[in-house]
Amino acid sequence: MTRPAPKQFNRTQALYERALRTIPLASQTFSKSAMNFVRGASPLFMSRAHDCRTWDVDGNEYIDYMLGLMPIILGYCDPDVDAAIRAQLDRGIIFSLATELEVELAERLVRMIPCAEMVRFGKNGSDATSAAVRLARAHTGRDRVAVCGYHGWHDWYIGSTTRSLGVPAAVRALTTTFTYGDVEGVERLLGGDPNGFAALVLEPVAPNGGDKHFLSALRSLTEHYGVVLVFDEIVSGFRIDLGGAQKVYGVTPDLACFGKAMGNGMPIAAVLGRAEIMRHMEDIFFSGTFGGEALSLAASIATIDKLTALNGPKRIESVGTFLLREIAAVLQQAGLPEISIGGMPWHPIVKVTAEGARAMTITSLLRQELIASGILGGGGINICIAHDEPAILETTIARWKQAASAVCEAVRSPDPAKYLRGDPIRPVFQVRAQ
Ligand SMILES: Cc1ncc(COP(=O)(O)O)c(C=O)c1O
Repeated sequence: MTRPAPKQFNRTQALYERALRTIPLASQTFSKSAMNFVRGASPLFMSRAHDCRTWDVDGNEYIDYMLGLMPIILGYCDPDVDAAIRAQLDRGIIFSLATELEVELAERLVRMIPCAEMVRFGKNGSDATSAAVRLARAHTGRDRVAVCGYHGWHDWYIGSTTRSLGVPAAVRALTTTFTYGDVEGVERLLGGDPNGFAALVLEPVAPNGGDKHFLSALRSLTEHYGVVLVFDEIVSGFRIDLGGAQKVYGVTPDLACFGKAMGNGMPIAAVLGRAEIMRHMEDIFFSGTFGGEALSLAASIATIDKLTALNGPKRIESVGTFLLREIAAVLQQAGLPEISIGGMPWHPIVKVTAEGARAMTITSLLRQELIASGILGGGGINICIAHDEPAILETTIARWKQAASAVCEAVRSPDPAKYLRGDPIRPVFQVRAQ
């Protein structure tokens, strides 16, 4: 198989060294940092992006399956969303009082999302999940929280992970983790402290899929113990369905959090749910300077309208179904049993089944070779509507074939690590069981 000409990363390397002098980690986000890439053989800085393609500072082009960690759902520079942003820019970015845009967006979300009776906006997913926990604590008068999945950078959640440095022990003690699908475990947890838990917070869909039976059991258990059930739909929201996983699985939580794809890249998130709980917003403190910033609200309204008109989640699912089938075939033809693809059609996931250091080597080799072939991405395959083009999908599979053949050569050699052209990826932490 003909290999693509090696990419150059000279400007990337120079910029990385320069950035390290003023920016710790040279990035604002762990998953976008050098930790997540084979250094020297990967882009670290982007210069522009359009539809589903992106260009790094060295001018290398990629089909992008990271999508900025999922805020892009239509495509980069979507003309309709960008027109809505430009039109709002001419009227003003932020105002001294609320705007009609807030009401319009809240009304759309209430129409679309089963649990939504009232809505408040934030800028990040972490704003929404932290607001949900504060609401739950205010509503129940209890302090403890049980979590499953990833819920953002704030103390109440991150203290329960291995990245807990800087979080007081007293805060860490209030959060307990549970396992997706383990009804008995959750029953033991809540039953063991019947008046202790304020909220059960989970991503309603695990990497391998959602479990309606489990979600229904959580609904009954939380009702029984008076615990607020919170679905963190920051990944599933809009992608699985415009109404979220709660609509697909038919289980309605008390509160839910949306973010990421809400504004096709603009920073906006929402906490929403039952009016009885949401009304505690009048007494708790969830209030910030940039709440109600208008460009993001306009972008979100345009994103929802376009996704609705295009039947967006169905288009994403059909791209994912194609990629699941075709990438599985590529991996099988290449003879790479240690790499598989699974997950949901709206969010396929590439898994490496090797043990220990070998797993990290193979993960790094795969990301390195995908990048060499012109595919940005690795673990989660993030899909946007702009991927839904025959030429893009054909090129994606051709590039995967090139990458798989290069990984195969390395994996079959006595020392696969020798094929790495830089330091391997370092894991940030793993919170979602694969
Ligand atoms: C499920 C989930 N919840 C919450 C968050 C936090 O969102 P943000 O990074 O926008 O604060 C994320 C971010 O990746 C997420 O995936």
